[in-house]
Amino acid sequence: MKKILKWIGFTFGGLIVVLVLFYLVIHISTERRLNKIYTLEIADFEVSFDPLTIERGRHFADNVFLCGACHGMDYSGQIELDDPLFGRLVFPNITEIKDEYSNAELERLIRYGIKRDGKPAVLMPSFEYTHLSDPDMEAIIAYIKNLPAVENDLPETKLGPLARIFLGLGVFEHFISAEDIDHYAERPPAPEPGPTAEYGKYLASTCQTCHGPGYSGGKGPGEPPDMPIATNITAHRETGIGLWSIDDFYRAMREGIRPNGEKLDEFMPYLNFRGMTDMELDALWAFLQSLEPREFGNR
Ligand code: HEC
Ligand code: HEC
Repeated sequence: MKKILKWIGFTFGGLIVVLVLFYLVIHISTERRLNKIYTLEIADFEVSFDPLTIERGRHFADNVFLCGACHGMDYSGQIELDDPLFGRLVFPNITEIKDEYSNAELERLIRYGIKRDGKPAVLMPSFEYTHLSDPDMEAIIAYIKNLPAVENDLPETKLGPLARIFLGLGVFEHFISAEDIDHYAERPPAPEPGPTAEYGKYLASTCQTCHGPGYSGGKGPGEPPDMPIATNITAHRETGIGLWSIDDFYRAMREGIRPNGEKLDEFMPYLNFRGMTDMELDALWAFLQSLEPREFGNR
């Protein structure tokens, strides 16, 4: 009997040692990734603050590229999640940070996911913005720089053990965008704005975080269980929007209503998208229709 107890004690003790070591390795490796200093430099540049440019920037930031969906429509930020196991995820108050950033540093953050101090931004989906044209980027920067300051003190993001384990094991998609973007790649020329599939593709990067890189929806890796699941927006007839008309698409994007009258969950940011122009919706529609239809859930 004593022998068995001793044996159980050893096994249990051994297991704890292994778990502690495992977590230690995870902690050290994620700490290194989160504190890595990226050295990419961008030469500073001027942006125009004329009302048309600022309005273009507002349109892109609020209605297309969803900056305001995360940072709040007044850009004063919010605490997204505060969980002892997962950690605290904070969308910072941009109105209080923007003056510390030069235009070039803002571009580096938005396009490459590198913060002013050279460390990578977590969760900020720069992979969706890395391809933006210079004029569009400048318009967004002009809008951000021109925002009125709003007081809202927020704590910093702090990853808990579960988020670290997911990050360490490579479960998340694009949790640290800076790691996924080639900072030195030449940018392909941006398409002319127009109701074309090419321009739709340019805009549709903003759908990928939720609908997946192949736009067929399904639960994203590491997404919390209570997060609404994005549906299939390829033209798959059974599981996607293959039987929809363009008017159905307009209605979903502007009013959040499916053809059968069902209301979409507000996690689908139609409250932002409803400000898109007809041309932009036509372009998105042309692009989504041009994709190979995929079955739901293949991301
Ligand atoms: C999915 C949510 C999300 C979206 C969409 C998003 N951001 Fe962020 N953003 C974040 C998070 C989270 C951070 C904090 C990153 C960190 O502290 O590591 C951040 C950080 C920032 C910062 C400050 C970095 C610092 O020094 O603290 C700025 C400026 C910013 N975002 C601008 C933008 C702009 C402009 C857009 C749209 C083009 C945008 N964000 C879209 C989540 C988002
Ligand atoms: C923040 C996450 C998120 C983003 C970003 C997002 N969606 Fe969605 N979308 C969802 C979710 C979740 C649903 C399902 C809502 C429901 O089931 O009530 C959905 C549903 C839809 C639907 C309805 C299809 C159906 O029958 O369920 C369409 C159309 C759609 N999205 C298009 C888009 C397009 C186009 C973009 C990019 C321009 C986009 N979405 C970006 C989360 C998102």
